[in-house]
Amino acid sequence: MTALIEARDLHKSFGPVRAVDGVNLSVAAGEAYGLVGPDGAGKTTTLRLLVGALTPDQGQARIGGHDLARELEPARAQVGYLAQRFSLYGDLTVLENLTFFGQVRGLGGAALAARTRELLAFVGLTGFEARRAEQLSGGMKQKLGLACALVHRPRVLLLDEPTGGVDPVTRQDFWQLIIRVLAEGAAVIVSTPYMDEAARCNRVGFMNGGRLLVEGPPRELTQALAGRVLELAAQPRAVVRHVAAADPEVEDVVVFGDRFHLRVRAAEGPLARLPGALTAAGATVERLRPVAPQLEDVFIALLQGPAGEARP
Ligand SMILES: Nc1ncnc2c1ncn2[C@@H]1O[C@H](COP(=O)(O)OP(=O)(O)OP(=O)(O)O)[C@@H](O)[C@H]1O
Ligand SMILES: [Mg+2]
Repeated sequence: MTALIEARDLHKSFGPVRAVDGVNLSVAAGEAYGLVGPDGAGKTTTLRLLVGALTPDQGQARIGGHDLARELEPARAQVGYLAQRFSLYGDLTVLENLTFFGQVRGLGGAALAARTRELLAFVGLTGFEARRAEQLSGGMKQKLGLACALVHRPRVLLLDEPTGGVDPVTRQDFWQLIIRVLAEGAAVIVSTPYMDEAARCNRVGFMNGGRLLVEGPPRELTQALAGRVLELAAQPRAVVRHVAAADPEVEDVVVFGDRFHLRVRAAEGPLARLPGALTAAGATVERLRPVAPQLEDVFIALLQGPAGEARP
């Protein structure tokens, strides 16, 4: 099966900053690819290269088989893009915004009217047609942005942190919409700071410093740390952190909600030593047990590279 999104060796610098530094990507129809990484990793620049808003210094990208450098218009016609800081027209209504984006995409007349009705129902904004965009809640704005990105029925959807700053319930709604778009056969790349969203993707790529450090299905990525993450619930925190970090086989101590995750070289030693060491230091240990690694554990380990042993 041919990929709908293909990027080979993409490079883009801004002055001395290598924003994208040799990215290869391939995303098939019906596949959701999660792009994660810290601020400034190059996620937005990658997406802007794929939508043809930026020209790469080096490398190629194809959308639906069309080379972005040589066949920009047919390539772009297949892409829906929701920018990280996209702008709706605040003084236009919901319907006017959607109609405008449809016209930009060359739609009009009865076909556009039908498409806007369909999309407003799809994103749950039926009944809000006459509301000015500036009066929408954050989540509703994002849903309208998604509707605008989908107006021309793109086969490729690029979403740049579409749920940033959106409440958890709306994030859930939004994700249901993405699943429906995928079911219709689109290829989707979604950048996200949320690991629970990344975990929903078929594949996840972790970017840092303009490079994709690892990519794979979430389960494969977490498998690499199997047996090397311990959950520790204990008090007081400062003492716990200090004692745990001092164990020779503990590589890292990270706060996970009201607990800690310890990344260990091997579980046995710390499991045997830590309860005693913590108690001796005056801490109260509620729980220490091996847990299934999460994507966040993997990415923290990666960010602490290049120490080979810290890498999954
Ligand atoms: N137009 C630009 N001019 C100059 N530098 C830029 C420009 N766009 C991006 N950069 C730089 O390129 C690097 C990558 O930025 P990019 O926006 O792609 O990162 P990101 O992963 O999307 O980050 P965030 O999570 O904060 O959105 C950063 O160092 C950024 O400052
Ligand atoms: Mg960004």
